[in-house]
Amino acid sequence: MITKKHWTRNTVIFGGIALWGLLLISCVTVNRAVLAPPNVAGAKFVGTKECVECHRDQVDHFASSTHAKLALADASVGDTGCEACHGAGSIHVKSGGAKGTIVNPRTSPEACFACHLEKRGEFSLPNTHPVLAGKVTCVDCHDVHAGDAIKGNGAAMESQNETCTKCHSAQKGPFVYEHGAMKEGCVACHSPHGSVNAKMLVARDANLCLRCHLEAPTATGMINANAVRHTPEDHATRLMQGTCWSAGCHEAPHGSNANNHVRR
Ligand code: HEC
Ligand code: HEC
Ligand code: HEC
Ligand code: HEC
Ligand code: HEC
Ligand code: HEC
Ligand code: HEC
Repeated sequence: MITKKHWTRNTVIFGGIALWGLLLISCVTVNRAVLAPPNVAGAKFVGTKECVECHRDQVDHFASSTHAKLALADASVGDTGCEACHGAGSIHVKSGGAKGTIVNPRTSPEACFACHLEKRGEFSLPNTHPVLAGKVTCVDCHDVHAGDAIKGNGAAMESQNETCTKCHSAQKGPFVYEHGAMKEGCVACHSPHGSVNAKMLVARDANLCLRCHLEAPTATGMINANAVRHTPEDHATRLMQGTCWSAGCHEAPHGSNANNHVRR
C-alpha cells in the first residue's frame, strides 16, 4: 500500500477555495457556513474510503457526525467528508502518514474558519475564549468525528454544561441553593465564543437577568418589570449602584451555598 516517494517540503496552506471548485457539492442548503476545505499544496482529494485502512476509529463513527451530513462528494472519488476538514489526502496517503502532509485542526482553528468564516470574528471580540491564542481549541467544546458537533446537544442540558465545567469547576456545583437558570445551560448567560461584554455575558446589565425574570411573578419570588419597582426590595435604587450581580446583591449568579436569592 505504501509507495515510497520523496516529497519536497509540502507546505500546508489554509483557506484554498480554488481546489474546492473541483468538487460537486451535493448539499447546498446551508446558509451559515461556506464550503471551503483547507488547502494542502499539491494534493488531490482521494475520498474517505482511503482513510479506513489506517484510521478505522474515526471512519467507523463518522456517519453519525454533524459534518458527515454535509455529504460533500467528489465526482471521481466519492465522499470526501474527512478531507473537508483535513484537506486533500493524496500525499498523506501515499506517504503512509508522513508528518506535515495533512491538516490537523487541533493545532490551528484556521481549518474550521475556512467554512465558519464568522467564527473568526467572534473569537476576535474583546472578551473571548483564547482560541486564537492557542490556549483553547474548537474541539475542547465540539465533537468532530462522531455525533452532534455541539457536545451535549439534544441530550440533557447537564451534559452540555459538563463541557464547560470540566475546565470551570467553580461553576459546577452542586450548590445548596441552585439558581434555576443553570438548567437552561451556561449559554443562557454566556456567549461561548466571545462577546463585547465582560465575562462573555450575553448582556452587560440587568437585561441579562430580566430576559427570564420579566415573566409574571411567582410564589417563589420571580421578579418582573413591575417587581423591580414594587417589591419590598427597592430594585430601582439598587440598580443605580451597578448590575444585579455587582451592586452587592446577587453576587452568586451560578448558585449559592449561603442564601436562596443567589447571594453570597
Ligand atoms: C469537522 C472537521 C473534521 C472532520 C470532518 C474530520 N475530522 Fe479528523 N480531526 C478534526 C479535528 C479538529 C482533529 C483534532 C482532534 C483532537 O485532537 O481532539 C482531528 C483529528 C484527526 C486525527 C488525528 C487523531 C489523533 O489522535 O491525533 C485523525 C487520524 C483524523 N482526524 C482522521 C479523520 C478521518 C479519517 C475523518 C473522516 C472519517 C475525519 N478525521 C473527519 C476535525 C475533523
Ligand atoms: C497508509 C496509512 C494511512 C492512510 C491511508 C491515512 N493515514 Fe492519516 N496518518 C497515518 C499515520 C501513520 C499518521 C501519523 C500518526 C501519528 O503521528 O501518530 C497519520 C496521521 C493523520 C492525522 C494527524 C496529523 C497530525 O499532524 O496530527 C490526520 C488528521 C490524518 N492522518 C488524516 C487522514 C485522512 C483524512 C486520511 C484519508 C484521506 C488518512 N489520514 C489516511 C497513516 C495514514
Ligand atoms: C468544509 C466546510 C466545513 C469545515 C471545514 C468545518 N465545518 Fe463545521 N459545519 C459546516 C456546515 C456546512 C455545517 C452545517 C451548517 C451550519 O449549521 O452552519 C457545519 C456545522 C457545524 C457545527 C454545528 C452547527 C449546529 O448548529 O449544529 C459545529 C459546532 C461546527 N460545524 C464546528 C466545526 C469545527 C469545530 C470545525 C473545525 C474542526 C468545522 N466545523 C469545520 C461546514 C464545515
Ligand atoms: C468554550 C467552548 C467552545 C469553543 C472553544 C468553541 N465553541 Fe463553538 N459552540 C459552543 C457552544 C456551547 C455552542 C452552542 C451555542 C448555543 O447553543 O447557543 C457552539 C456553537 C457553535 C456553532 C453553531 C452555532 C453558531 O454559533 O453558529 C458553530 C458553527 C461553532 N460553535 C463553531 C466553532 C468553531 C469553528 C470553533 C473554533 C474556532 C468553536 N466553535 C469553538 C462552544 C464552543
Ligand atoms: C478547555 C478548557 C475550557 C473549556 C472547555 C471552557 N473554558 Fe471557559 N475559559 C477557559 C480559559 C482558558 C479561559 C480564559 C481564562 C483567562 O483569561 O483567565 C476561559 C474563560 C471563560 C470565561 C471568562 C472568565 C473571565 O474571568 O473573564 C467564561 C465566562 C467562560 N470561560 C465560560 C465558559 C463556558 C460557558 C464554557 C462552555 C461552553 C467554557 N467556558 C468552556 C477554558 C475553558
Ligand atoms: C444566570 C446567568 C448565568 C449562567 C446560567 C451562568 N453564568 Fe457564568 N457568570 C454569570 C455572571 C453574571 C458572571 C459575572 C460575575 C461577576 O462578574 O462577578 C459570570 C461569570 C462567570 C465566570 C467568570 C468567573 C467569575 O466568577 O467571575 C465563569 C468562568 C463562568 N461564569 C462560567 C459559567 C459556566 C461554566 C456556566 C455553566 C455551568 C455559567 N457560567 C452559567 C452569569 C451566569
Ligand atoms: C435562563 C433564565 C434565567 C436567567 C437568565 C436568570 N434567571 Fe434567575 N432564576 C431562573 C429560574 C428558573 C429560577 C427559579 C425560579 C423558581 O424557583 O420559581 C431563578 C431564580 C432566581 C432567584 C431566586 C428567586 C427566589 O427567591 O426563588 C434570584 C434571586 C435570581 N434568579 C436572580 C437572577 C439574577 C440576578 C440573574 C442575572 C444574573 C438571573 N436570575 C438570571 C431563571 C433565570
